[in-house]
Amino acid sequence: MEASMLEETVQNPNPYPVVGKLHYEDIWQLCLQARELAWDPARDIDWDALKRETADLPAEARAAGAEWWSLRAWMEHGATPYGAERLRQAIFEHLPFEVKQHVSNFIAEELRHHEASFRIADALGGYQPSPRSDYFQMVIPRFHDEKDEKAMSFYAGMAVNTLFEQLSGELLSARYKNAVYPEIKKACELILRDEARHIQFGRILMRRFFADLSDEEKVRLGEKFAKKLRGSLLNGVYAVVNLPREERKRSARARALAAEHGLGATHPDEEVDIIVSALKAIRADVAPYDVPIPEIAEIEGDGAPKGTLAAE
Ligand SMILES: [Fe+2]
Ligand SMILES: [Fe+2]
Repeated sequence: MEASMLEETVQNPNPYPVVGKLHYEDIWQLCLQARELAWDPARDIDWDALKRETADLPAEARAAGAEWWSLRAWMEHGATPYGAERLRQAIFEHLPFEVKQHVSNFIAEELRHHEASFRIADALGGYQPSPRSDYFQMVIPRFHDEKDEKAMSFYAGMAVNTLFEQLSGELLSARYKNAVYPEIKKACELILRDEARHIQFGRILMRRFFADLSDEEKVRLGEKFAKKLRGSLLNGVYAVVNLPREERKRSARARALAAEHGLGATHPDEEVDIIVSALKAIRADVAPYDVPIPEIAEIEGDGAPKGTLAAE
C-alpha cells in the first residue's frame, strides 16, 4: 500500500473494555434531566406566528435580525465538532457510561440550539448558510482547535469549555430579556434551560477533578480560556471588539438594530459589560482551585472600548 493511502486510514483505538457501571451519580442525574426536558425546535415553537408578527418590520431590521440569528446558528453549530471529538475521546479513554451519555446529549442539544436559531433567521427573511463576510469564514473554523484540547486532560478541557457556557449563558439571558416576540423568547428560554445543565456539568467537573490538577495544568487551563476568548469569541461571536475596524462598525450597527427591534439580540456595548462581569464571576468560581485567568486586555484593561462600538 502506498504511504499516502496509509495516512488517510483513520486508526480507531479499541473501545473495549466498555465501562457499563455508573461512577458519577451527579452526572447521571443530568442525563435523566436531559431526557425529561427534551424539546423539539420544529414543533414546540410556532414559526408561522413569528413570520406573521415580524412581516411588517422595516426590511433593514429584518435583515439585521436574520444576520444576527444566522450568526447565533453558526455559533451553536461550532460546539458540535468539538462535542464529537470529546465523544470519541470519552469512548476510547473508556470513560463511564454517564460521561458518554452526557457528551452525546450535549451534541444533540447544541444541534437543536442551532436548529432553533436558523428557524428564527428563516422567519425573519432567510437564514444565511454561510457568513457573508470573509472574515467570519476565517474565524469560525478556529472556534475549536483540537491541538489546544489535546494539551489538556479530558476533564480539564471540558471544564474550560463549560466556563464558556457560563459566559454565553449570561449573554443569552440578556437576549431573552431583549426579545419582544414570544417565539424568540421561548427559543431563548428553552436553549437557556439546556445551557443550565451544561454549566452544571462544568461545576461537577470542577468539584471532582480540579483539586487533582497540577499547578502547571491550572496555568495552562487559564491560558487556554483566555486564548479562545480573545482569538475567536471576541471576533464577532460573543462581541465585536476584536473585529477589523470596518467589519466591527457594520456588525455592531446590525446588532444594535436587531436589539432596538426586540429581536433577541444584544447591543454591542452591553455585550462588553456582560462579558466583563461574567469574567469576574468565573474568576471567583475558579479561585478556590487556584486557576489563574489572565486579564483580557481588550475589554478589561487599558484597551477596553471607550466610546460606543456602534458609533466608532
Ligand atoms: Fe448552545
Ligand atoms: Fe451549551
